[in-house]
Amino acid sequence: MSANGLEFAPATRERFADFARLFPELGVDDPLPTLADWLARLAPETVFALQDDAVVGYGYAQALGEDGYVRNVVTDPAQRGRGVGRALMLELRRRLVARGCVRWQLNVKVDNAPALALYRSLGLVGDFRTWVLRVPTGSALALPVSPHDAATRECGPEFDAELQARFAVPPGLLARHRTKPDARVLVCDRAGATVGLAPFDPAFPGCFPFRLLDATCAGAILAPLLSWVPSGRPHLQLVLERDEPAARLLLAAGVRLHFEIQHMQGSLT
Ligand SMILES: CC(C)(COP(=O)(O)OP(=O)(O)OC[C@H]1O[C@@H](n2cnc3c(N)ncnc32)[C@H](O)[C@@H]1OP(=O)(O)O)[C@@H](O)C(=O)NCCC(=O)NCCS
Repeated sequence: MSANGLEFAPATRERFADFARLFPELGVDDPLPTLADWLARLAPETVFALQDDAVVGYGYAQALGEDGYVRNVVTDPAQRGRGVGRALMLELRRRLVARGCVRWQLNVKVDNAPALALYRSLGLVGDFRTWVLRVPTGSALALPVSPHDAATRECGPEFDAELQARFAVPPGLLARHRTKPDARVLVCDRAGATVGLAPFDPAFPGCFPFRLLDATCAGAILAPLLSWVPSGRPHLQLVLERDEPAARLLLAAGVRLHFEIQHMQGSLT
Protein backbone atom coordinates (compact mmCIF):
# COMPACT_ATOMS: atom_id res chain seq x y z
CA MET A 1 0.00 0.00 0.00
CA SER A 2 1.33 3.46 -0.90
CA ALA A 3 1.43 6.47 1.44
CA ASN A 4 -1.96 7.78 0.27
CA GLY A 5 -3.77 4.49 0.86
CA LEU A 6 -3.58 3.29 -2.74
CA GLU A 7 -2.95 -0.32 -3.64
CA PHE A 8 -1.69 -1.67 -6.96
CA ALA A 9 -3.22 -4.70 -8.60
CA PRO A 10 -2.55 -6.68 -11.79
CA ALA A 11 -4.70 -6.52 -14.91
CA THR A 12 -6.92 -9.57 -14.84
CA ARG A 13 -9.86 -10.55 -17.05
CA GLU A 14 -12.27 -9.21 -14.39
CA ARG A 15 -10.73 -5.72 -14.67
CA PHE A 16 -11.29 -5.37 -18.42
CA ALA A 17 -14.53 -3.49 -17.72
CA ASP A 18 -12.57 -0.93 -15.67
CA PHE A 19 -10.06 -0.58 -18.48
CA ALA A 20 -12.91 -0.13 -21.01
CA ARG A 21 -14.47 2.55 -18.78
CA LEU A 22 -11.22 4.49 -18.28
CA PHE A 23 -9.51 4.08 -21.70
CA PRO A 24 -11.75 6.69 -23.46
CA GLU A 25 -10.48 9.27 -20.91
CA LEU A 26 -7.28 9.40 -22.98
CA GLY A 27 -9.33 11.35 -25.53
CA VAL A 28 -7.52 9.90 -28.53
CA ASP A 29 -10.51 8.21 -30.15
CA ASP A 30 -8.64 4.95 -30.76
CA PRO A 31 -10.65 1.72 -31.02
CA LEU A 32 -10.93 -0.17 -27.73
CA PRO A 33 -8.82 -3.35 -27.86
CA THR A 34 -10.81 -6.57 -27.67
CA LEU A 35 -10.66 -8.53 -24.42
CA ALA A 36 -8.46 -11.20 -26.04
CA ASP A 37 -6.08 -8.61 -27.50
CA TRP A 38 -5.94 -6.70 -24.21
CA LEU A 39 -5.17 -9.82 -22.20
CA ALA A 40 -2.48 -10.93 -24.64
CA ARG A 41 -0.70 -7.66 -25.37
CA LEU A 42 -1.52 -4.92 -22.86
CA ALA A 43 -2.58 -6.55 -19.58
CA PRO A 44 0.84 -8.04 -18.72
CA GLU A 45 2.30 -4.51 -18.59
CA THR A 46 -0.76 -2.81 -17.04
CA VAL A 47 -1.25 -1.94 -13.38
CA PHE A 48 -4.46 -0.81 -11.67
CA ALA A 49 -4.62 1.60 -8.72
CA LEU A 50 -7.22 0.68 -6.10
CA GLN A 51 -8.66 2.68 -3.23
CA ASP A 52 -10.78 0.67 -0.79
CA ASP A 53 -10.92 -2.13 -3.39
CA ALA A 54 -12.36 0.18 -6.09
CA VAL A 55 -10.39 0.91 -9.27
CA VAL A 56 -9.39 4.59 -9.36
CA GLY A 57 -6.96 4.48 -12.27
CA TYR A 58 -4.59 2.44 -14.39
CA GLY A 59 -1.20 2.72 -16.04
CA TYR A 60 0.36 0.81 -18.92
CA ALA A 61 4.05 0.95 -19.83
CA GLN A 62 6.12 -1.21 -22.17
CA ALA A 63 9.72 -2.20 -21.41
CA LEU A 64 11.56 -2.11 -24.75
CA GLY A 65 15.13 -3.08 -23.92
CA GLU A 66 16.57 -0.14 -22.01
CA ASP A 67 13.66 2.12 -23.03
CA GLY A 68 10.50 2.32 -20.99
CA TYR A 69 7.50 3.55 -22.98
CA VAL A 70 4.57 4.83 -20.91
CA ARG A 71 1.54 4.31 -23.13
CA ASN A 72 -1.47 5.07 -20.85
CA VAL A 73 -1.99 6.78 -17.48
CA VAL A 74 -5.59 7.43 -16.49
CA THR A 75 -7.22 8.52 -13.24
CA ASP A 76 -10.96 8.07 -12.76
CA PRO A 77 -12.49 11.54 -13.37
CA ALA A 78 -14.03 11.53 -9.88
CA GLN A 79 -10.64 10.91 -8.26
CA ARG A 80 -8.41 13.47 -9.99
CA GLY A 81 -6.15 15.86 -8.12
CA ARG A 82 -5.65 13.47 -5.20
CA GLY A 83 -2.30 11.94 -6.14
CA VAL A 84 -3.46 8.88 -8.09
CA GLY A 85 -1.77 9.88 -11.36
CA ARG A 86 1.54 10.61 -9.63
CA ALA A 87 1.38 7.32 -7.70
CA LEU A 88 0.73 5.42 -10.94
CA MET A 89 3.67 7.10 -12.67
CA LEU A 90 5.97 6.28 -9.74
CA GLU A 91 4.77 2.65 -9.80
CA LEU A 92 5.34 2.41 -13.57
CA ARG A 93 8.80 3.92 -13.09
CA ARG A 94 9.60 1.36 -10.37
CA ARG A 95 8.50 -1.48 -12.63
CA LEU A 96 10.46 -0.21 -15.64
CA VAL A 97 13.63 0.18 -13.56
CA ALA A 98 13.15 -3.36 -12.21
CA ARG A 99 13.03 -4.58 -15.82
CA GLY A 100 16.33 -2.89 -16.70
CA CYS A 101 15.12 0.34 -18.34
CA VAL A 102 17.46 3.32 -18.05
CA ARG A 103 15.24 5.87 -19.86
CA TRP A 104 11.53 6.46 -20.15
CA GLN A 105 9.44 8.19 -22.78
CA LEU A 106 5.83 8.96 -23.57
CA ASN A 107 3.49 10.96 -25.78
CA VAL A 108 1.14 13.63 -24.50
CA LYS A 109 -1.33 15.89 -26.27
CA VAL A 110 0.08 19.43 -26.47
CA ASP A 111 -3.01 20.87 -24.71
CA ASN A 112 -3.14 18.33 -21.85
CA ALA A 113 -1.98 20.71 -19.08
CA PRO A 114 -2.47 18.32 -16.10
CA ALA A 115 -0.49 15.52 -17.76
CA LEU A 116 2.27 17.87 -18.97
CA ALA A 117 2.67 19.26 -15.45
CA LEU A 118 2.77 15.77 -13.96
CA TYR A 119 5.40 14.55 -16.41
CA ARG A 120 7.57 17.67 -16.08
CA SER A 121 7.49 17.30 -12.29
CA LEU A 122 8.94 13.81 -12.75
CA GLY A 123 11.85 15.11 -14.83
CA LEU A 124 10.55 14.29 -18.30
CA VAL A 125 11.36 16.88 -20.99
CA GLY A 126 9.93 17.42 -24.46
CA ASP A 127 12.09 16.37 -27.40
CA PHE A 128 9.99 16.20 -30.58
CA ARG A 129 6.54 16.86 -32.01
CA THR A 130 4.14 14.32 -33.45
CA TRP A 131 1.11 14.90 -35.66
CA VAL A 132 -1.83 12.50 -35.51
CA LEU A 133 -3.22 12.78 -39.04
CA ARG A 134 -6.27 11.32 -40.70
CA VAL A 135 -6.04 10.63 -44.42
CA PRO A 136 -9.55 10.35 -45.91
CA THR A 137 -10.07 7.15 -47.88
CA GLY A 138 -12.89 8.54 -50.01
CA SER A 139 -11.49 11.75 -51.49
CA ALA A 140 -8.44 12.57 -53.58
CA LEU A 141 -5.49 14.40 -52.02
CA ALA A 142 -3.56 17.23 -53.67
CA LEU A 143 -0.20 15.50 -53.32
CA PRO A 144 2.77 16.22 -55.58
CA VAL A 145 3.79 13.40 -57.93
CA SER A 146 6.47 11.34 -56.17
CA PRO A 147 9.97 11.14 -57.69
CA HIS A 148 10.22 8.35 -60.31
CA ASP A 149 12.76 6.41 -58.22
CA ALA A 150 10.58 6.28 -55.07
CA ALA A 151 9.52 2.68 -54.43
CA THR A 152 7.87 0.82 -51.57
CA ARG A 153 8.43 -2.68 -50.23
CA GLU A 154 7.17 -4.74 -47.32
CA CYS A 155 9.80 -5.76 -44.79
CA GLY A 156 10.02 -8.89 -42.67
CA PRO A 157 11.33 -8.98 -39.08
CA GLU A 158 14.91 -9.48 -40.27
CA PHE A 159 14.94 -5.75 -41.12
CA ASP A 160 13.55 -4.54 -37.78
CA ALA A 161 16.87 -3.73 -36.08
CA GLU A 162 18.15 -1.78 -39.09
CA LEU A 163 14.87 0.17 -39.42
CA GLN A 164 14.69 0.96 -35.71
CA ALA A 165 18.23 2.35 -35.80
CA ARG A 166 17.63 4.38 -38.97
CA PHE A 167 14.39 5.95 -37.71
CA ALA A 168 15.30 6.24 -33.99
CA VAL A 169 12.48 3.89 -33.01
CA PRO A 170 12.89 2.16 -29.61
CA PRO A 171 14.33 -1.35 -29.97
CA GLY A 172 11.62 -4.00 -29.96
CA LEU A 173 8.80 -1.66 -30.99
CA LEU A 174 8.48 -3.25 -34.43
CA ALA A 175 8.48 -6.75 -32.93
CA ARG A 176 5.61 -5.62 -30.66
CA HIS A 177 3.83 -4.22 -33.70
CA ARG A 178 4.11 -7.56 -35.48
CA THR A 179 2.19 -9.32 -32.69
CA LYS A 180 -1.01 -7.47 -33.77
CA PRO A 181 -3.30 -9.47 -36.08
CA ASP A 182 -2.42 -8.92 -39.79
CA ALA A 183 0.13 -6.20 -38.97
CA ARG A 184 2.56 -5.28 -41.79
CA VAL A 185 5.67 -3.11 -42.12
CA LEU A 186 6.03 -1.00 -45.27
CA VAL A 187 9.05 1.11 -46.16
CA CYS A 188 9.79 3.58 -48.94
CA ASP A 189 13.18 3.77 -50.64
CA ARG A 190 14.62 6.50 -52.80
CA ALA A 191 18.08 6.91 -54.30
CA GLY A 192 19.46 3.97 -52.37
CA ALA A 193 18.20 5.13 -48.97
CA THR A 194 15.17 4.14 -46.92
CA VAL A 195 13.21 7.36 -46.42
CA GLY A 196 9.83 6.16 -45.10
CA LEU A 197 8.66 3.78 -42.38
CA ALA A 198 5.02 2.71 -42.01
CA PRO A 199 4.14 -0.05 -39.53
CA PHE A 200 0.51 -0.71 -40.53
CA ASP A 201 -2.22 -2.11 -38.26
CA PRO A 202 -5.54 -2.81 -40.05
CA ALA A 203 -7.52 -2.63 -36.79
CA PHE A 204 -6.46 0.98 -36.19
CA PRO A 205 -6.45 1.35 -39.24
CA GLY A 206 -3.16 3.18 -39.47
CA CYS A 207 0.52 3.48 -38.72
CA PHE A 208 2.42 4.12 -35.49
CA PRO A 209 5.02 5.47 -35.73
CA PHE A 210 4.94 6.89 -39.26
CA ARG A 211 8.18 8.45 -40.53
CA LEU A 212 8.85 10.20 -43.82
CA LEU A 213 12.30 11.75 -44.18
CA ASP A 214 11.63 12.75 -47.82
CA ALA A 215 8.25 14.48 -47.93
CA THR A 216 8.12 14.30 -51.72
CA CYS A 217 7.60 10.53 -51.42
CA ALA A 218 4.26 10.95 -49.61
CA GLY A 219 2.18 9.83 -52.60
CA ALA A 220 4.30 6.73 -53.15
CA ILE A 221 3.99 5.48 -49.57
CA LEU A 222 0.34 6.47 -49.07
CA ALA A 223 -0.99 4.59 -52.13
CA PRO A 224 -0.39 1.04 -50.80
CA LEU A 225 -1.36 2.03 -47.25
CA LEU A 226 -4.72 3.41 -48.43
CA SER A 227 -5.34 0.22 -50.42
CA TRP A 228 -4.88 -1.80 -47.21
CA VAL A 229 -7.51 0.11 -45.20
CA PRO A 230 -10.47 -2.24 -44.62
CA SER A 231 -13.51 -1.24 -46.68
CA GLY A 232 -15.99 1.01 -44.93
CA ARG A 233 -13.35 2.73 -42.78
CA PRO A 234 -13.32 6.49 -43.46
CA HIS A 235 -9.64 7.23 -42.93
CA LEU A 236 -6.09 6.00 -42.53
CA GLN A 237 -4.52 7.33 -39.31
CA LEU A 238 -0.85 8.31 -39.35
CA VAL A 239 1.04 9.05 -36.14
CA LEU A 240 3.74 11.08 -37.87
CA GLU A 241 6.72 11.58 -35.59
CA ARG A 242 9.41 14.26 -35.95
CA ASP A 243 9.21 14.89 -39.70
CA GLU A 244 7.70 18.37 -39.87
CA PRO A 245 8.17 18.94 -43.64
CA ALA A 246 6.13 15.78 -44.28
CA ALA A 247 3.46 16.95 -41.82
CA ARG A 248 3.20 20.33 -43.56
CA LEU A 249 2.98 18.76 -47.01
CA LEU A 250 0.26 16.30 -45.94
CA LEU A 251 -1.78 19.02 -44.21
CA ALA A 252 -1.51 21.25 -47.28
CA ALA A 253 -2.71 18.32 -49.41
CA GLY A 254 -5.98 17.96 -47.48
CA VAL A 255 -5.02 15.50 -44.73
CA ARG A 256 -6.83 16.34 -41.46
CA LEU A 257 -4.98 17.09 -38.20
CA HIS A 258 -6.66 14.98 -35.51
CA PHE A 259 -4.42 16.30 -32.72
CA GLU A 260 -0.81 17.23 -31.97
CA ILE A 261 1.44 15.45 -29.51
CA GLN A 262 4.56 16.33 -27.53
CA HIS A 263 6.98 13.45 -27.14
CA MET A 264 8.81 13.53 -23.79
CA GLN A 265 11.72 11.56 -22.40
CA GLY A 266 13.76 11.34 -19.24
CA SER A 267 16.43 9.36 -17.44
CA LEU A 268 15.67 6.52 -15.03
CA THR A 269 19.16 6.34 -13.58
C1 LIG B 1 -3.21 13.35 -16.23
C2 LIG B 1 -3.91 12.60 -15.09
C3 LIG B 1 -3.53 11.12 -15.18
C4 LIG B 1 -3.42 13.18 -13.77
O1 LIG B 1 -3.99 12.38 -12.75
P1 LIG B 1 -4.34 12.91 -11.28
O2 LIG B 1 -4.61 11.72 -10.46
O3 LIG B 1 -5.38 13.96 -11.35
O4 LIG B 1 -2.94 13.59 -10.89
P2 LIG B 1 -2.36 13.84 -9.44
O5 LIG B 1 -3.45 14.22 -8.49
O6 LIG B 1 -1.49 12.71 -9.06
O7 LIG B 1 -1.48 15.13 -9.69
C5 LIG B 1 -0.14 14.97 -10.10
C6 LIG B 1 0.36 16.25 -10.74
O8 LIG B 1 -0.32 16.45 -11.97
C7 LIG B 1 -0.44 17.86 -12.19
N1 LIG B 1 -1.86 18.16 -12.23
C8 LIG B 1 -2.88 17.36 -11.86
N2 LIG B 1 -4.06 17.98 -12.11
C9 LIG B 1 -3.75 19.18 -12.63
C10 LIG B 1 -4.53 20.26 -13.14
N3 LIG B 1 -5.85 20.23 -13.15
N4 LIG B 1 -3.88 21.32 -13.65
C11 LIG B 1 -2.53 21.37 -13.70
N5 LIG B 1 -1.74 20.36 -13.23
C12 LIG B 1 -2.35 19.30 -12.71
C13 LIG B 1 0.25 18.53 -11.03
O9 LIG B 1 1.60 18.70 -11.39
C14 LIG B 1 0.14 17.48 -9.96
O10 LIG B 1 1.14 17.62 -8.99
P3 LIG B 1 0.86 18.44 -7.62
O11 LIG B 1 -0.37 17.80 -7.03
O12 LIG B 1 2.10 18.19 -6.84
O13 LIG B 1 0.64 19.83 -8.05
C15 LIG B 1 -5.45 12.79 -15.16
O14 LIG B 1 -5.74 14.17 -15.34
C16 LIG B 1 -6.16 11.99 -16.24
O15 LIG B 1 -6.49 10.83 -16.07
N6 LIG B 1 -6.42 12.62 -17.41
C17 LIG B 1 -7.14 11.94 -18.50
C18 LIG B 1 -6.26 10.91 -19.15
C19 LIG B 1 -4.98 11.52 -19.64
O16 LIG B 1 -4.98 12.56 -20.28
N7 LIG B 1 -3.85 10.83 -19.35
C20 LIG B 1 -2.55 11.27 -19.78
C21 LIG B 1 -2.31 10.84 -21.15
S1 LIG B 1 -0.73 11.38 -21.75
